[in-house]
Amino acid sequence: MSTRNRAWIAATAIALATSGAEAEGPGLGVPLAPGEIPRFASVVLPDGAGLPPGRGTAREGASIYAAKCARCHGVTGTEGPIQPPVAPARQYAKPAGRHWPHATTLFDYTKRAMPFDAPKSLSDDEAYAVVAWILYRNGLVAEDEIVDAKSLPRVEMPNRSNTIDLYERQGEKPY
Ligand code: HEC
Repeated sequence: MSTRNRAWIAATAIALATSGAEAEGPGLGVPLAPGEIPRFASVVLPDGAGLPPGRGTAREGASIYAAKCARCHGVTGTEGPIQPPVAPARQYAKPAGRHWPHATTLFDYTKRAMPFDAPKSLSDDEAYAVVAWILYRNGLVAEDEIVDAKSLPRVEMPNRSNTIDLYERQGEKPY
């Protein structure tokens, strides 16, 4: 290695070491403004911790589902083409509405990741309502039952008893 190259590497190393926090990461992305953080940091745990204020019913959720979910998951929630959340259906034996052990996770995932092409675009009320619709279509809540932070953790999911809580079994919980 030439002296010039060595000097260049040393200078670069000093520049990296002194340019602060930004130099520690891969230099990708855009820093979030403090006001944006809650939108990205929302996490709902199985017991319902982290559920936001707001509410919705299946009756309200029907039109939201039709407008924002049906084209991928099917008009009735059973036909897909992608992982229909209602039933079990012929093409999908493990729909989220009946297979997932916690209704709270349905909210967490929907709010965080759906619609697939516009994630985090649902308001809290819209997310509660569309989750209520999925639960209603799976026979787990009534059409006008209010789904909110209080009632959602109490929904008894049919597959709950077929799953185990690994953290509980290990004697430690991260939450
Ligand atoms: C553009 C297509 C599209 C739209 C619109 C869409 N989804 Fe999805 N959805 C997907 C895809 C793709 C997956 C699978 C993602 C993965 O596995 O990473 C998925 C997965 C899901 C799952 C988990 C399914 C399972 O069995 O694990 C749920 C629940 C869900 N979506 C609900 C919704 C709701 C509610 C809406 C409307 C607010 C919605 N989706 C809108 C494409 C879509």
